[in-house]
Amino acid sequence: MKTYKRILVTSALPYANGPIHLGHLAGAYLPADIFVRYQRMKKREVVYICGSDEHGVPITIAAEKQKKSPQDIVDYFHFRNKTAFQRFGISFDYYGRTSSTMHHETSRAFFRQLESTGVFRKKTEKQLFDQKAGMFLPDRYVCGVCPVCQNDSAYGDQCEKCGSSLSATDLQHPKSVLTGETPVLRETTHWYLPLGDWQEKLQKWFDEKKHWKTNVVGQVKSWLQAGLNDRAVTRDLSWGVPVPLEEASGKVLYVWFDAPIGYISATKEWAAEIGKPDLWQKYWQDADTRLIHFIGKDNIVFHCIMFPAMLMAHGGYVLPDNVPANEFLNLEGEKLSTSRNYAVWLEDYLQRFAPDPLRYYLAVNAPETKDADFTWKEYQQRNNGELADILGNLINRTLTFTAKYFNNQVPPRSDLDPMDQEMIQLLNQAPGQIGDLIDKVEIRKATAAVIDVARAANKYFNDQEPWRTIRSDSKKCGTTLHICLQTLRALAILMEPILPFSAQKLYQILGYTDTIQTEKWDDAGDCLLPAGRKLGRAEILFRKIEDQEIESEITRLKRAGNAQTIDQKAEEPKINQIPIEEFAKIELRVAQVVSAEKVEQADKLLKLLVKVGDQERQIVAGIARHYSPQDLVGKQVVVVANLQPATIRGIESNGMLLAAQDESGKLSIVTLEQPLENGARVR
Ligand code: 2FM
Ligand code: ZN
Repeated sequence: MKTYKRILVTSALPYANGPIHLGHLAGAYLPADIFVRYQRMKKREVVYICGSDEHGVPITIAAEKQKKSPQDIVDYFHFRNKTAFQRFGISFDYYGRTSSTMHHETSRAFFRQLESTGVFRKKTEKQLFDQKAGMFLPDRYVCGVCPVCQNDSAYGDQCEKCGSSLSATDLQHPKSVLTGETPVLRETTHWYLPLGDWQEKLQKWFDEKKHWKTNVVGQVKSWLQAGLNDRAVTRDLSWGVPVPLEEASGKVLYVWFDAPIGYISATKEWAAEIGKPDLWQKYWQDADTRLIHFIGKDNIVFHCIMFPAMLMAHGGYVLPDNVPANEFLNLEGEKLSTSRNYAVWLEDYLQRFAPDPLRYYLAVNAPETKDADFTWKEYQQRNNGELADILGNLINRTLTFTAKYFNNQVPPRSDLDPMDQEMIQLLNQAPGQIGDLIDKVEIRKATAAVIDVARAANKYFNDQEPWRTIRSDSKKCGTTLHICLQTLRALAILMEPILPFSAQKLYQILGYTDTIQTEKWDDAGDCLLPAGRKLGRAEILFRKIEDQEIESEITRLKRAGNAQTIDQKAEEPKINQIPIEEFAKIELRVAQVVSAEKVEQADKLLKLLVKVGDQERQIVAGIARHYSPQDLVGKQVVVVANLQPATIRGIESNGMLLAAQDESGKLSIVTLEQPLENGARVR
């Protein structure tokens, strides 16, 4: 295998139209981060690049739904996602964004180069046009019936049911996503990348990739076998990188043309930031770079065919050595769905749990060769049974024993018996074995192998019975503990890529003051912890997760999946700020409940008669599961007094009662701290 001088790692640029969930992490971010952290400790030259994908229809549709500008949406999610990744320990060297000037310039220059060397084919064709909205309907702006599987909600670029990649004009019964109108055909001119012209070169390049994952090879083979077609690389949209040609005014680059160039522009920004503005060229244009794209399986064609063809057409760039695409992560046996809010959102997770247990579970259960399933129960079992009971137990018993019997200092090592020698040998071999697995991106196996080291050390501890030898042969006992402490040092280093937060803590407990990244991977098994070293105070690195915590996550997931949508989810404080005048439009008033009764055949509803000032009005409220009618009579509550009347189950409702509900589902009506006159305004 070729040896490289440096490594350039990228993770797919996530669209800045929503928050990060576990599917993202398991697919393109965690495996890359583990890989990069390992390479850094191997002291290899490595750069890890990512950023926000801020163009394309997913962004403009999110903006339209939320009645925001695309810029507002991407600004908001760019920073939010960047922070969430950081809190999860994803250690990008640079997190760029495709709305940056550098990116616009880089992708325009790239397009110009291809245009000026005659790579593109310009075609005028009929495309779908929404007369009501006054715009063409590229990609996801149109939906209709899939010509392959008859799914009636296929998009203009893809059918999510059968996975077919489509053109908008392939759809049967197309409808505009914006207006619901049936579009008409109208002529427009676009620039196409004739992938067929690169087929032979792509095939030759691909045939050399004997080390690629079978799932990736399978997809690429079938694209190549089917024969490559022309792909439009421009769009009639206003949001995106403007096509750098006068005759193309009003058109932008197709998001899948500009986004992968984002890897290049972000590398340029990284190089400038570290004060070596030309360094990006080494990474992108010197054949000694090993370029690796980490992605999810839905991005394979773009990274294994389209972007390589673009790079070949441009010339002067390295091509990926590997594209270790992961399959998908399901959630409790079902497909993740952002539109149904059926997902575990990273920020939510981090509010209640530490990053490492999730990193561990997603690594040991990575969807490497086939789709994997995330279940909260398994998350708990893996955490409690492996992190806490195997790794945590080894750390804990070794440290408490050392504190109790050896004055919390590393005891010296004396004569070695065969079991000692075997344990030391295991430590010597572990960095090479685990490292090779990470280098081959076999993250599941590498993660299991780290736990196996701890498992072996627990067995060694048991077999050596230090609790017995402390009385009969204290030197031998010291040797056992010495070796166990060396194992902890080895484990701290070996677990760093997967469990960076706990690894750093453990490293400090072992009396080191630097960051663990200063260590060399290859020295991990070399028993370098000096005898006599005073150790720090032990702490529980992996707490057990209780049944109750898991149950409440499952409940939360079920509720979210049924009730909320991602758009509501996205509307969090900053993006949802309203001017005071908006708030002033809502007339909140104090009201007193005069009478209350259940609504027949509607077990959630109560019909209330309330007095607002001298006016009586009827309100239907969905609180019957939480309050019985007699609890409410006489109470002062707060109502929205200027809501348009509605008919609920055939009963007129003139207003809305305010109530709060927490995550557990508990509900409380809003009442007054002190009695006030009915009809008083609430502000
Ligand atoms: O599928 C996605 O989420 C895309 N935003 C990935 C882009 S990867 C790269 F090409 F930028
Ligand atoms: Zn289909």
